[in-house]
Amino acid sequence: MTNIAIFASGRGSNAKKIIEYFKGHQHIQVKLIVSNKANAPVLEIAQANGLEKLVLNRPSFYQTQDLLTTLNNFKIDFIILAGFLWLIPPYLVQAFRKKMVNIHPALLPKFGGKGMYGMHVHEAVKLAGETETGITIHLVNEQYDEGAVLFQARCAVNEQDSPLDIAKKVQRLEHLHFAPVIEKLVTQLEASSTDSF
Ligand code: GRF
Repeated sequence: MTNIAIFASGRGSNAKKIIEYFKGHQHIQVKLIVSNKANAPVLEIAQANGLEKLVLNRPSFYQTQDLLTTLNNFKIDFIILAGFLWLIPPYLVQAFRKKMVNIHPALLPKFGGKGMYGMHVHEAVKLAGETETGITIHLVNEQYDEGAVLFQARCAVNEQDSPLDIAKKVQRLEHLHFAPVIEKLVTQLEASSTDSF
């Protein structure tokens, strides 16, 4: 069984989709929801689904490695960032190298980096006059939105689309693709770790 932790700062619509997708899955389970905000709606989703929750404290997250002990206690093998706004510290990147993915609501390397989240991204896409946008699922490294790209899906941006219209199209792609892409990645990882024995 591969145990997943989802890190999210806000609404958690992607987290919800992922939780639902893996319910009753044969070899992948969502075990823990981690947030940096005690009042994040994603924690209610965790509660409603009977999942373990953890609220991070900034000094402890950046100045200690206590989180690794907690993740270890929950036997977490894989981390999903689904709208998690804090930069991942090096100790966590190293501990989960190739085992931590993020979803970004644009076609990286365009419209990524610090401050590029939520509606800021879609407003920038609109302002730049892009004719397409989409989603990027990528490995996490020490910089915002710079790890290796694993998957992208695209949608058209029409002249009359508002940033909100763009956001809706992108969210549709996220909800459609994120969980199946994770399933594929985790399954590949499981296969490669069996190979090495
Ligand atoms: C998504 O658009 C995702 O791409 C970005 O943060 C947003 C999270 O949305 N990283 P939600 O909380 O899952 O609804």
